[in-house]
Amino acid sequence: MPRAPENTHFGFREVPLAHKQTLVDDVFHSVARRYDLMNDLMSGGLHRAWKDALVTTINPPRPKGRPGRLDEKTAQPFALLDVAGGTGDIAFRVIAAGGAGTRATVVDINPDMLEVGRARAAQRGLDVVFVEGNAESLPFPDRSYDAVTIAFGIRNVPRIAAALAEAHRVLRLGGRFLCLEFSTVDVPGLDALYDFYSFNVIPALGRAVAQDAEAYRYLVESIRRFPRPDAFAEMMRTAGFQRVSFQRMTGGIVALHSGWRL
Ligand SMILES: C[S@@+](CC[C@H](N)C(=O)[O-])C[C@H]1O[C@@H](n2cnc3c(N)ncnc32)[C@H](O)[C@@H]1O
Repeated sequence: MPRAPENTHFGFREVPLAHKQTLVDDVFHSVARRYDLMNDLMSGGLHRAWKDALVTTINPPRPKGRPGRLDEKTAQPFALLDVAGGTGDIAFRVIAAGGAGTRATVVDINPDMLEVGRARAAQRGLDVVFVEGNAESLPFPDRSYDAVTIAFGIRNVPRIAAALAEAHRVLRLGGRFLCLEFSTVDVPGLDALYDFYSFNVIPALGRAVAQDAEAYRYLVESIRRFPRPDAFAEMMRTAGFQRVSFQRMTGGIVALHSGWRL
């Protein structure tokens, strides 16, 4: 049945567009403390390899200096904005790759995820700026970042087109947008296994480790509702990105989308 225009999906449920963000916020409020552990358990550590692939693709310039410390002699730091950056994983990895010349900002709508991120950054001695904000209306000026990333975040945002337009707006000319997101498994055999794992094992893990099976059922369902990679690439073009491309990884479990502001 066609969806009423003011409605959207929250996992497999149809909900009013205006309610989705609150429901998403409840999920991440509930899982924030166990989020990083659950990522490792659910993906068998694979999320690390997927995130590393994103960072390798960004390939931040690497001047000499201490990782994550701003060096006054560094003329033009490489400015990264990680949207829906949660507990800071992408920012930490880009700083590790780019060293002293990288300035990383994490923006996320959920204060609980940001709190975990700030504690992790302090533990690592890294200067990462954590900002509470909505991907649909970023609290940053036009053309202020060299790269904008979003990893496993965009499918949670109610108005995806608005988030893409905002990512484009804050990028400098010549800047790159990279989006890592769960995608569509097309490999025969792997698809059935992946479905079984997703709908049975992951909620059970969520119940055992994060005491919240429902939150993880939502995460699995939201993956199934996310557009196929070619459809998402078209949304990126509509937002103004050029040289749009995507790369499937691990049999299509994940796709890395790329676009430039030119
Ligand atoms: C699955 S987590 C991904 C976290 C991190 N990027 C990673 O890869 O580990 C999704 C994140 O999206 C954030 N989020 C959801 N809706 C958002 C919005 N409208 N604006 C900004 N962040 C949002 C959540 O708070 C959560 O931290």
